[in-house]
Amino acid sequence: MVMFDHQDSLGALNEDIPLREKLECIHGVLKQQYDFIDRISVTVYDAKTDILKTFVDSSGTDEPLQHYQARLADAGSLRDILGHGRPRVVNDLEVFAAGGHIHTQQILKQGYRSSYTLPMFLNGHFFGFVFFNSYRKHPFTPDALHCLDTFGHLISLVITGEMSAIHTLLAALKTAREITHHRDVETAEHLDRMSRYAQLIAKELSGKYDFDDEYIEHIFLFAPLHDIGKIGIPDRILLKPDKLSGREFEQMKGHVQKGRQIIDDMLQNFGLEGFQYVDILRNIAQYHHESIDGSGYPYGLEGGDIPIEARIVAVADVFDALASRRRYKAPWTNDKAFAVLRRLAGSRLDRECVDALERNRAEVERIQDQFREIQAD
Ligand code: C2E
Ligand code: SIN
Ligand code: SIN
Ligand code: FE
Ligand code: FE
Repeated sequence: MVMFDHQDSLGALNEDIPLREKLECIHGVLKQQYDFIDRISVTVYDAKTDILKTFVDSSGTDEPLQHYQARLADAGSLRDILGHGRPRVVNDLEVFAAGGHIHTQQILKQGYRSSYTLPMFLNGHFFGFVFFNSYRKHPFTPDALHCLDTFGHLISLVITGEMSAIHTLLAALKTAREITHHRDVETAEHLDRMSRYAQLIAKELSGKYDFDDEYIEHIFLFAPLHDIGKIGIPDRILLKPDKLSGREFEQMKGHVQKGRQIIDDMLQNFGLEGFQYVDILRNIAQYHHESIDGSGYPYGLEGGDIPIEARIVAVADVFDALASRRRYKAPWTNDKAFAVLRRLAGSRLDRECVDALERNRAEVERIQDQFREIQAD
């Protein structure tokens, strides 16, 4: 006899919903068995900067850690997990009360008393952590840990599955760029810097726009693709060492539509059209040259009609174009670059995004120090 009475309790995982909702679904199922699991959170790791970032969590009503990041090297207790190559049980978080890192203090302050932490790996590379927290002390029996391992790997697979799709897409676009010598104009360092500026701006505006960590991470991931359409611009224009003529610039403007087309083709070829975050990617490629006052291209959109991710990336991109060497211009000092941004605020650029970047000038300079061009000439 065939029966369809059973409802798959994890059915939501089949749906195209944000990771947070998937995590909440898993948390709900886990709680039926182990009701002491009060919070699950996931952090992702940026190997280039050694930074661990909060990414998504299921925390009931409180949100102890939002938009938080720390260097793994400074988070000793977490670093030890990798050193040991094993997950870690802390049955009483108060052992960290005195010396612990800020994030541990925040977790404690919200009343969490214990944690189980599993490292996640993608293609053998450390990728981040899954945390299970409880308000109780000593809740982790061997049976519970056994079960949490399974759930931890399930969460890890859900997250890495999503991320590996993005990584494949980014790698394909990067390869396309390298094949077409596009690196000659948009250096890897430009992309490293501008994507991190975009992340800074998004973090700074997260209160006003209610951005969550997932959204901010996707801005960071997709920002480097803003100019992918330049691979379709002929070399005599793209690589021209001096000012473009009016006609040449008109042709150059076509990089926006070409970018959108390349991204759409790529999403289709990879079967990712229905992917949760593709609009962030499309918007960044398509609208990063629109201006607040309507004078931009290709559509002449104004103000709030320009998607916020495009306004953010525009500021990050223009700042880096000003502060670095371009084939057609020498690098400017940060003082001068920020002065020009301020002048463009409200006309070409979104004022709040400009202010947000300027408020983070110290961090901007740290990023510049870390991702310097290797001068070829
Ligand atoms: P890009 O080099 O990545 O520059 C991105 C944006 O940064 C520019 O978009 C512009 O808004 C800003 N920007 C860059 N340099 C300056 C500058 O010296 N002054 C000011 N006020 N803003 C600057 P835009 O203008 O739409 O240009 C798009 C792309 O067209 C540029 O991307 C670059 O690849 C190309 N391009 C623009 N002007 C020239 C040029 O005079 N010569 C050459 N060879 N390429 C140019
Ligand atoms: C820590 O490892 O410092 C505690 C953080 C947590 O378990 O969420
Ligand atoms: C790079 O080109 O350095 C990485 C950025 C990307 O994957 O598009
Ligand atoms: Fe562009
Ligand atoms: Fe750029």
